[in-house]
Amino acid sequence: MSKDIATIILAAGLGRRMKSGLAKVLHCVAGKPMFLYPVAVAEEISSAKIVVVVGHQADSVQNALTGKNVRVALQAKQDGTADAVRVGMDSLKDFKGTVVILCGDVPLITPETVRGLLSSHEKEDASLTVLTTEVDDPAGYGRIVRGAGGAIARIVEDRDADEVIKQIREVNTGIYAFDSALLSTVIYEIRSENAQKEFYLTDSIEIGLRMGLKAFAYKTDDPQEVMGINSRVELSRAEGIMRRRINDRHMLNGVSFIAPDNTYIDTDVSIGQDVTIYPGTVIKGSTSISDGSTIYSNNRIVNSRMGAGVTIKDSCVIEDSSIGDGSQVGPFAHLRPGSTLEKNVRVGNYVELKKSVMGDGSKANHLTYLGDAEIGSGVNIGAGTITCNYDGQEKFRTIIGDGVFIGSDVQLVAPVKVGDGAFVAAGTTVTKDVPPGALAISRIEQENRVGWVEERKKRKNKKQ
Ligand code: UD1
Ligand code: CA
Repeated sequence: MSKDIATIILAAGLGRRMKSGLAKVLHCVAGKPMFLYPVAVAEEISSAKIVVVVGHQADSVQNALTGKNVRVALQAKQDGTADAVRVGMDSLKDFKGTVVILCGDVPLITPETVRGLLSSHEKEDASLTVLTTEVDDPAGYGRIVRGAGGAIARIVEDRDADEVIKQIREVNTGIYAFDSALLSTVIYEIRSENAQKEFYLTDSIEIGLRMGLKAFAYKTDDPQEVMGINSRVELSRAEGIMRRRINDRHMLNGVSFIAPDNTYIDTDVSIGQDVTIYPGTVIKGSTSISDGSTIYSNNRIVNSRMGAGVTIKDSCVIEDSSIGDGSQVGPFAHLRPGSTLEKNVRVGNYVELKKSVMGDGSKANHLTYLGDAEIGSGVNIGAGTITCNYDGQEKFRTIIGDGVFIGSDVQLVAPVKVGDGAFVAAGTTVTKDVPPGALAISRIEQENRVGWVEERKKRKNKKQ
């Protein structure tokens, strides 16, 4: 592309048709606020400058942009798409080149299509090119009215269209390429004489043509990609399309899905080769899974890191945790935030961890709660072990050294330390530190009353 590119993303509207307290552009598609997709497209087409026009819930929209090299422009009152572009252009005063307009509510747009728009804009030597598409149901969209010879004449919004214009199935996608000089002139010519009393960017076609400039309509044949999200029905459709794209990408990179239509992977999740994922699994946020891991059915995994050759058996919840190479988790385990399993660790049925570390080769296979615990390597945690980490006011830590054996049904009343190689007998309540290599045992001695059951029966019969 010979000319410099700047991109403006319109993201100030509330989106009344979403029936939501949350601004439309903050609604997520595959785990990410929808307007971040066009922002990513702007990055991919090598925009020299990116401006995001914010308005409703500006702070939250701006927060979602943290770490990105974009300018944020505040549209205080949402007076229409042309007004939003005017606000965006205020941040591009010194820019000369091509200005691309993207909409924050069109998340499925791809860089390839925008590149197609840009090459057509250049090839036609147009001052203004609008991306259009043909849809089966054009309701809600601006219609593309073509004049004699088939060239675009104007765009008529749905609410301003008569019955004849409503029949037109070629629609405005809300995506444009403008010559920067034209755009900075034309946006001040637009008036708000229409059904919504708003400044419509779509009027720039007629005004541009009247100024004797060339306006061109570039049609894409993929209407799905340029679908605008206005309601939650459309949001769910976009979600489905995005998920399919994500899963296809992973499959092409060597990931197997037993049932891709029933597996939900967020956009920013990374997955290595020869990973197999079973149905019903939801993988969210910034999760990463290394080569050769297997994730069985109905797991929810959020912002977690999994090494190579990890197995997650069915029905686990794993949040903000890290699982080392060769470890096995589940079924029915819960790793709460801050849990770290080093290599070859096993966490089994009905085990809950919170802010706890388990060293290499350690095991907690059954019915256990480990909270605020630091557990060394080669440790066996018996069934029913509980760290009593909370006294109703404060949390305390439990420290267990390497090679420790904790028998079944042990309570560790924190703060407490069990030294390397110690042995804690089944049923023990540990209230004092255990020295390395020691046996800790706290049990009431067992008494066997021979014949007790028979005697009880006799007592009962006497009473009757
Ligand atoms: C717009 C187009 C329509 C097109 C459709 C494609 C206009 C007048 N209409 O209609 O021709 O078919 O997109 O999806 O341009 N926004 C602001 N500030 C505002 C108003 C809107 O930032 O003052 C943003 C919204 O947040 C949204 C985008 O611009 O991301 C589009 O606005 P929306 O109200 O959804 O326009 P549509 O009615 O869909
Ligand atoms: Ca829209």
